[in-house]
Amino acid sequence: MATETLKAFDVQRVRADFPILGQQVHGRPLVYLDNAATTQKPQIVLDALTRYYTAQNANVHRGVHHLSQVATEAYDGARTKVRCFFNAGSDREIIFTRNATESINLVAQAYARPKLQPGDEVLISAMEHHSNIVPWQLVCAERGAHLRVAPMDDRGELMLEEFERLLGERTRIVAVTHMSNALGTINPVADIVRMARARNVPVLIDGSQAAYHMPVDVQALGADFYVATGHKLYGPTGIGVLYGRESRLEAMPPFLGGGDMIASVTFEKSTWNELPYKFEAGTPHIEGAIGLGAAVDYIQSVGLDGMAAHEQELLAYGTQVLEAIPGVRMIGTARRKASILSFVIDGIHPHDIGTIVDREGVAIRTGHHCAQPVMDRLGIPATARASLAMYNTREELDALGAALHKVIEVFG
Ligand SMILES: Cc1ncc(COP(=O)(O)O)c(C=O)c1O
Repeated sequence: MATETLKAFDVQRVRADFPILGQQVHGRPLVYLDNAATTQKPQIVLDALTRYYTAQNANVHRGVHHLSQVATEAYDGARTKVRCFFNAGSDREIIFTRNATESINLVAQAYARPKLQPGDEVLISAMEHHSNIVPWQLVCAERGAHLRVAPMDDRGELMLEEFERLLGERTRIVAVTHMSNALGTINPVADIVRMARARNVPVLIDGSQAAYHMPVDVQALGADFYVATGHKLYGPTGIGVLYGRESRLEAMPPFLGGGDMIASVTFEKSTWNELPYKFEAGTPHIEGAIGLGAAVDYIQSVGLDGMAAHEQELLAYGTQVLEAIPGVRMIGTARRKASILSFVIDGIHPHDIGTIVDREGVAIRTGHHCAQPVMDRLGIPATARASLAMYNTREELDALGAALHKVIEVFG
C-alpha cells in the first residue's frame, strides 16, 4: 500500500504546479531549500486568490446580498476543508487566526491567563520556536507563574523522562512543538499528551512544522489545542489555524473584542457569538482562509503519505550528501526527524555559507532560526539550514552539495 502511494508520487508533476520554481536566480535555476521558513504556493492556491478578488469579494457574515453570501460560503467552506484536513470533530473547533504565533498567544491569553495563579507552572520543551516561548513568558510574568523547560539531549531529542518529572502538581498547561524547526526532531506528541492528560493537564501542540510534512489527526492525538500556520502549509501568509477542543474553547473568554465576535452589544454589557466566531473579531482574512482551503485540498490531492515518504527519502539522501563534505557537522540527529538539514562547517560562519550558496541559486536559511535557546543548548551561535518540501529533488540536494564545495574553496 505504502509502495503504491510512493509510486504514485511524481515529483516532476508536483513541480509543474509551482510556477515560482521555474525561476532563475543569479543566472542559475532556483533551488529553493528554505521551506521551513515558508513554502511556495501551487497554482491552485494562486487561482483561488485571484478568483476571490475577481468574482467573490465582499465582507462575510453580514450581508444579505449575493456576493456577501458567496464570500461567506467560500470562507466557511475553507474552514470545513481545514477541519477535515486535521480531522477535527466540528467546524466550531477551527479558529482562523493570523498565524501560529497568534494562535499560541490566543491560548496563552484566553486560556492560561485567567487560570494561572502565583507559583503555577507552564511546561514547554527546550526546542521551542520563540513563538512558543515568549507568549508563555508574558503570561507567566503577569501572573507570577513559572516557565519550566523539559530538556533535550545532544542529538536534539526531548528527554521524555525529564519531561514527565517536570509535569508536576502546579503544571497548568503543556506547550510543545510537534516538530522542531531548527533541528527537524519529531517529538513523541502522543506520549506527551497521554502523560499530561493522565494528570488532567491540557496540552497545546505547535504543529507549524509538522502539519505540512505528515498527516495530523487531532482527534486521535487527543491534544486540547493544535496550532498551524497557513504560509507553511502551501497557503497564503496572514492566515493561521487554532484547533481547540470544543469544551475548552466554550469555557474560554474571548481573546480580541470587536465586530463579528459578539451576539449582542449594549454600553452596559456585551455577549459573545458562538464558536468559532467568538474568537474571530473583525473582518477576517477572507482570501487567506480561501487560499488555505485550496492549499489543503492540494496537499490531499498529492497525497500526504506519498509526500512524506518522498521527503524522508530526500532527507536521508541530503544527509549523505552533506556528511560527505569535509568539515560539515550535522546539527540535530534525532532518530525521528523530518525535512530539516541543519549544519555547520568548521571555521566558516553560517552567514557566509548562505551568501555564497545563494550565488549558485540555492536558497537556504542561516541564523538561530527563531530558536535561540536551541543554539545556546548546543553551544553554537547559528546554523545553516536546508529545509525540504514536497517539490524538492535529489538533483537540488546535489546542487547544494556542489555549492558547499565552492564555499569551502573560497574560505578553506
Ligand atoms: C515550530 C514553529 N512554531 C511557530 C512558528 C511561527 O510561525 P508564524 O511566524 O507563521 O506564526 C514557526 C515558524 O517558523 C515554527 O517553525
